[in-house]
Amino acid sequence: MVASTRDASVDRFSLVRAHGQHDDFAHDVRLGLTASPKTLPPKYFYDDLGSMLFEAICRLPEYYVSRSEGEILGSFADEIVQSFGTPVRLIELGSGTSRKTRVLLDKLIQRQRALEYIPIDIDGELLHQTAQRLLEDYSDLFVHAVVADFRRIDDVLPPLLATGSQQRNVVLFLGSTIGNLDRGDQKELLRTVRRVLFPGDMLLIGADQRKRKDILEPAYSDALGVTAAFNLNLLVRMNSELGAQFNLNNFRHRAFFNEEEGRIEMHIVSSVSQSVRIEALDIEIIFASGETIHTENSYKFDDAEIAALAGETGFAVERSWTDSRRFFADVLLVAQTAVRRTGDSV
Ligand code: SAH
Ligand code: TRP
Repeated sequence: MVASTRDASVDRFSLVRAHGQHDDFAHDVRLGLTASPKTLPPKYFYDDLGSMLFEAICRLPEYYVSRSEGEILGSFADEIVQSFGTPVRLIELGSGTSRKTRVLLDKLIQRQRALEYIPIDIDGELLHQTAQRLLEDYSDLFVHAVVADFRRIDDVLPPLLATGSQQRNVVLFLGSTIGNLDRGDQKELLRTVRRVLFPGDMLLIGADQRKRKDILEPAYSDALGVTAAFNLNLLVRMNSELGAQFNLNNFRHRAFFNEEEGRIEMHIVSSVSQSVRIEALDIEIIFASGETIHTENSYKFDDAEIAALAGETGFAVERSWTDSRRFFADVLLVAQTAVRRTGDSV
């Protein structure tokens, strides 16, 4: 179910908000901070300030991720678009500013003239702003924006994909955002995507590659401290939205590569032993000195892992592209014909 707002002046635009997907920040904070070890869900990074800080992260010298993927899309846009085959409708999960997507929009519009683009993001403000910019820049673009949690697209996408069956649906999931999900959730998300697609539809997935620690770690603890600000912004949000009393001077950012798990872990570390009151929840959270709140993971991949993930979720690898340093890969998957056994779902 969706609620729809339509800008009457521009009928190339719609924006829908998924119903029943209200974030419950208070509930999630209570759950995460009373658990052991303490955690917070990463989707709360992306308020207005958080999305701006993420944009800044993408420009940092240490954060190779956006540049490497930008290089791939820039160098291989023709090939990528050719591999899509027939005219397509483009759907993007966690689209953000859609900055890297523009090169694909350019090529697709050149090739098929009109293009339907469905960006999906949890940050409604950013989504709205981005859509407006795109509509100004591309006169043949139709934007149907969806404010939703991409893990629950089965609530919102099916009606949007029901029309125009001669078009192939191509889902973009760029920026290694897949790596911010735990392994079980990665599988679940791909299965959900597969369920809303038709055989032959495609998924282009950005996967950051395993590499040396001395390249990985600085990308998540930059010298300017922007990633630290991005991480600690969760404390700022709890202070302003939940009447919490976190003193930011008593916490710091830490990111490290966990070799065993193959992931960067981000934590907020309590540098002293302290107790912090959260007014809206009427609780006191006790921190030992050095205790952390685990705020995010960023899994790193190799080709075999992506192929296995695809195979287990109803996709097959069609092609993949990498940057000149082989830091990052964009992998094109094709939705396979569903094979259902009893009690099994694709
Ligand atoms: N695709 C862009 C942005 C990546 S940052 C790029 O490659 O640069 C991750 C984006 O996903 C942010 O815009 C954030 O708001 C969005 N996001 C994070 N968690 C989400 C979720 N659970 N559901 C929908 N969007 C989410
Ligand atoms: N998908 C991005 C990544 O894992 C998200 C990201 C980049 C991020 N830098 C971050 C998330 C810092 C949290 C903190 O690379």
